[in-house]
Amino acid sequence: MTMEWDALLPSDAPPAGDMAAIFELLERPGVLSFAGGLPDTAGFRTAQIAAAGTEVLTRHGPESLQYSPSPGFRWFREFLSERLARRGIPAAPAELVVTAGGSQAFDLVCRAMLRPGDHVLVEAPTFLGALATLRLFPVTVHGVPVDDKGLSADQLADDLRRLRRQGIRPRFLYTIPNFQNPTGCTLTEPRRRELVRLATEWELPVLEDDAYGELGEGAPLPALKALHPAGVVFLGTFSKIFAPGLRLGWLAGPPELAQRVVGIRQSTDQCPSSFAQFLARACDTAGILDGQIEDIRTALRRRRTATLDALARYMPEEARWTRPDGGYYTWVTLPPPLDAGKLLPHVVMQQRVAYVPGAAFYPKPADGHRQLRLSYSLVEVAQIPDGIARLGTAFRSALSAR
Ligand SMILES: Cc1ncc(COP(=O)(O)O)c(C=O)c1O
Repeated sequence: MTMEWDALLPSDAPPAGDMAAIFELLERPGVLSFAGGLPDTAGFRTAQIAAAGTEVLTRHGPESLQYSPSPGFRWFREFLSERLARRGIPAAPAELVVTAGGSQAFDLVCRAMLRPGDHVLVEAPTFLGALATLRLFPVTVHGVPVDDKGLSADQLADDLRRLRRQGIRPRFLYTIPNFQNPTGCTLTEPRRRELVRLATEWELPVLEDDAYGELGEGAPLPALKALHPAGVVFLGTFSKIFAPGLRLGWLAGPPELAQRVVGIRQSTDQCPSSFAQFLARACDTAGILDGQIEDIRTALRRRRTATLDALARYMPEEARWTRPDGGYYTWVTLPPPLDAGKLLPHVVMQQRVAYVPGAAFYPKPADGHRQLRLSYSLVEVAQIPDGIARLGTAFRSALSAR
């Protein structure tokens, strides 16, 4: 007997979505993909991590395979607290909750903070995963524009005033200040200070997603959490600096929020992975974590340089793109009338190169049609010029066909 599962699922359940179709296209064999925001597995120090894992199992076998306390082990939160303190970010162990990656940290904070009918502010464009999470909540999402200096503080101030006139007080602002996904842009220091000033004035909680914060060049800028400890919830992850397969991240919020989150967690996974916590700390003690971060930074710097050089060489003259100082991404704006989403199937089939169309990253899908995200984290330096040249060929021919 068959079951009509489609009829059994509520019609407002999240669909597989356009992104499923896009990713199917991107996963075709032989396609050089600038699409996925994944780390290059060549950067994993797998043999050293294996030795550290064996040592964990030998020395802490039963405990590392047992459930962990719901907020994470106290010693692991102390370790996180010390790591964050080195970056000037205050987070006491009681304010920290260890999670299954930054995605779960965001989801748990949303569950703790959002109520039906709420309004939230996000960057426009922003991280796809955050938009996907927010779609599960009956809330209204407002986009605040991002430019090459990061989130526009002026626009944020205007939006807050406009919303207040409508009697709306947003529950929080979600922002990615460092090497933002998808634009690669970093919030400048004056804008950080202005954002924190506004957040204080308007009593607006800020969720600071730092997924790429350690993957930059030059001196890091102060975290929002460092500038405004009481008003910022900091979301961190080991996915981009260590290994996403470990599913290890954290949130650092006020203790009241941390406690709420731990309570909510009883209805989902109950606790983070014990083994992941043991392994991450063992890899830190053995110097593997910091070594790997250095390797990743170097690899990303080379790939970024190759990408920017190739864009300058092969993109149509009227195209524009961002110049990231770290992270995985650059954000390309095509000249009108090109539509990055409509062109994608053709680019993948004819040129065998892939990207993610910009509209996917906006809370309002009507935006971002001329834009696209290129992720260079997974493409070998030697392949970058050819890949970008093929993109350039596709865009130029679409322009000349208009
Ligand atoms: C901005 C941003 N935040 C959070 C994440 C979540 O990563 P994870 O759940 O693997 O920690 C990602 C991953 O791509 C990201 O780009």
